[in-house]
Amino acid sequence: MILGLETSCDETAAAVIDDDGHIRSNVVASQADLHAQYGGVVPEVASRRHLELVTPVIREALGEAGVTLDDVTKLAVTQGPGLIGALLVGLAAAKAVAWSRRLPLVPVDHLQGHVASLYLQPMALEPPFLCLLASGGHTLLLDVRSHGEQRVLGTTLDDAAGEAFDKGARLLGLPYPGGREIDRLARTGDPGAYEFPVARVPGLDFSFSGLKTALLYATRDLSPHELAARRADLAASYQRAIVRALVGRVQEAAKQAGAGTIAVVGGVAANSELRESLPGAALAPLALCTDNAAMIASAGRFTDPVPYPGYLGLDAYASR
Ligand code: KG4
Ligand code: ZN
Repeated sequence: MILGLETSCDETAAAVIDDDGHIRSNVVASQADLHAQYGGVVPEVASRRHLELVTPVIREALGEAGVTLDDVTKLAVTQGPGLIGALLVGLAAAKAVAWSRRLPLVPVDHLQGHVASLYLQPMALEPPFLCLLASGGHTLLLDVRSHGEQRVLGTTLDDAAGEAFDKGARLLGLPYPGGREIDRLARTGDPGAYEFPVARVPGLDFSFSGLKTALLYATRDLSPHELAARRADLAASYQRAIVRALVGRVQEAAKQAGAGTIAVVGGVAANSELRESLPGAALAPLALCTDNAAMIASAGRFTDPVPYPGYLGLDAYASR
């Protein structure tokens, strides 16, 4: 059994998976409501909340899995990238648990974790595949050759796709986290109502900042009443532009790399229009798109652990 921990942003998460990649428990305590009043994640508030939640969440994950620490053979924890204070809480907790049981520990890169959400049963995907990783902090096109080997084909030159959703939601007066809200509202809107631009950047990179500016121009002169009347159309058109940019690039990349399988992971992979636009793709299961610890434990299956007590000196990192 692998015990996974994830605290890189505003989800305190613990999960237990078995050696074959079956999920035994997957507990996610979201702090979203706590941060909504500030319109985004406040790092210091997140760290403090992680500190309060991490022990109960670990207990719950073990309890739900019907195991105790006696059954755990190794730990896996997110080392970075993310909010440094938030990461340190999870890393310290993982070190403490591993040290107390003389267990090995696997430090996991959060982005590797998202990719590893595809390796969980019952629908485990085998490399090679072309992977779009779209989250709040990253937008990457990865040529995944094996469980441990991948090449970055493209990335965003400015905002991440999830960031574009969140900033757009803010302009539309929708609560944080905005991606889910735009997704929900877009269902009642007309995606053809506004013609938002999709940036053409060279190679296989992405750019979303121009799109955000276009939404700003479309909304800034509207009265609150007008905004309310057009909000669904704006959301639908804006979402259509983001999805078009993602789908266009991933299909281009698949062609160039000669990839037979396209996979999509990360928080934005939960977007309903994106999922519908890539019917043949391997899509991370909805519950595993946004941050969770099952994906971190999954990545832990494919990386050599650091034996006791060498991991006590490990440090978290905020960026790659
Ligand atoms: O992977 P994730 O949970 O955290 C990071 O690693 O960043 O991704 C969070 C991002 C947020 O920007 C959120 O707005 C977006 O994923 N998101 C969505 C949806 N659900 C979450 N974006 C579009 N549609 C959704 N349904
Ligand atoms: Zn993430």
